Amino acid sequence: MRFTFKHIMKKKLVFVTNNSNKLEEVHALLGNNVQLLSLKDIYCQEDIPETAETLEDNALLKARYVKKNYNLDCFADDTGLEVKALDNAPGVYSARYAGESKDPKINRQKLLRNLEKEKDRSAQFRTVIALIIGEKEYLFEGIVKGEIIREEKGTGGFGYDSIFVPEGYDQTFAELGTEIKNTISHRAMAVNKLKQFLNENE
Ligand code: IMP
Repeated sequence: MRFTFKHIMKKKLVFVTNNSNKLEEVHALLGNNVQLLSLKDIYCQEDIPETAETLEDNALLKARYVKKNYNLDCFADDTGLEVKALDNAPGVYSARYAGESKDPKINRQKLLRNLEKEKDRSAQFRTVIALIIGEKEYLFEGIVKGEIIREEKGTGGFGYDSIFVPEGYDQTFAELGTEIKNTISHRAMAVNKLKQFLNENE
């Protein structure tokens, strides 16, 4: 293999997040081919408002903010839990399903209450990643299907993990632990698509 400038210089990409867990998870998935920068690394202290009505538009909104203000290639993600019997709610509003306090426990309780009488408890986590390289925008999607159980199980994870059992498993994400979750999760699927794209196009 001939080594060119491209092989020596790692591609710099900003991951538009302030969440250090996410940053670590995505860094592990992307590997060392990319130099991943966080918002902190570029001295961006803005809490970029996620005001759009779809996961795609929210991810684009965050990525476009960094592109416009810092002129750096970047990607942003947005995730929602889509519950079939609730017309795909809470979806893009997953973080603030029960109000602006964004309390995950109260969100879970509200969801369990709203599903009390439903037989169909199927749901999916969906992650969308928006990537901007130069002037071009790309979207990648990751989905994990499963169902919402009737009461919380497990202490690991975050958000809706303790009430979501992924297809093919009989434990919640909170019980399965991060190692298994990170290999099958919606975010992992989307990041793997991003990784494949970067490997093929850079
Ligand atoms: P975000 O777009 O990653 O910030 O996710 C929005 C909301 O979706 C979070 O506040 C959580 O309520 C929920 N969520 C996202 N990813 C997960 C996950 O992997 N497990 C459980 N809940 C999640």
